[in-house]
Amino acid sequence: MASTQLLVPLFLLSSLIMLSGAYSATFTFTNKCSYQVWPGILSNAGTPQLPTTGFALQPGESNTIPVPTSWSGRLWGRTLCTQDANTGKFTCLTGDCGSSTIQCSGNGAAPPATLAEFTLNGADGLDFYDVSLVDGYNLPMLIEPQGGTGGNCTMTGCGASLNNACPSELKVMDSENGESVACKSACDAFGDPQYCCSGAYANPNTCKASSYSEFFKNACPRAYSYAYDDGTSTFTCAGANYAITFCPSPSSTSLKSANGQYPEAVEVSAGTHRTSPYLIGGAITILAANWRLWQLFF
Ligand SMILES: *[C@@H]1O[C@H](CO)[C@@H](O)[C@H](O)[C@H]1NC(C)=O
Repeated sequence: MASTQLLVPLFLLSSLIMLSGAYSATFTFTNKCSYQVWPGILSNAGTPQLPTTGFALQPGESNTIPVPTSWSGRLWGRTLCTQDANTGKFTCLTGDCGSSTIQCSGNGAAPPATLAEFTLNGADGLDFYDVSLVDGYNLPMLIEPQGGTGGNCTMTGCGASLNNACPSELKVMDSENGESVACKSACDAFGDPQYCCSGAYANPNTCKASSYSEFFKNACPRAYSYAYDDGTSTFTCAGANYAITFCPSPSSTSLKSANGQYPEAVEVSAGTHRTSPYLIGGAITILAANWRLWQLFF
């Protein structure tokens, strides 16, 4: 017969085991654009998959997705998508993942596309995240950590609308109406190793900012503008959920830019710290399991 001395460590052990698996983060996607956006999600190799790899978001709509611990991968927004009436093929003018369906199913974004990159529970248990314009730009996107601590746990992204301001040699046009729908990276546009940080330029000493990368950096100082832009572009946080917002601020659409500065005062939904429903669920599971354990012995 088990003694109470045995039950106490058993209680603690079971609590620990269940608590470690109980917390996972969430990504809340919100579309504040005036147009429909189809988020795409690509999980890195060897990382647990998310429950979806692509879905539609109407203007004003939000969708929250649970994210397993230690997930890593990238997220982006597809725009100007249509489904062919005859073939049923789903394609997007920007950010297309080539899957022919709304789900991206393991395919990444065709550049140019604004990318949000995450590594959860990485070095020192920190989440690493950034918004990257290294593969070009297609729409404004912001990452906002909620309820996290430590590191440099702040909002990042690119709130500016750059499709019209984009240098003409980098512009991607909608052939139907002549509107600029995306902005290529110089690497994508010219294939020059100097812009791509490849070949002799594949290290931070030789690959430097260019006038093209500076166009992106001036508009969006917190976003990656070329491959070795790490110092000002990588952010860290622990225990946070993340809000991912397309077109964060309506005023950013008219960001012909007060001297090219990032709009620091972007509109942010009141960021009160919330208790994760997963944490509450985990706590209830632990209580229930321990109750059963006690009943077993008394
Ligand atoms: C954030 O902190 C990390 C180290 O945890 C550092 O490498 C990075 O440069 C910092 N980012 C910014 C934008 O200061």
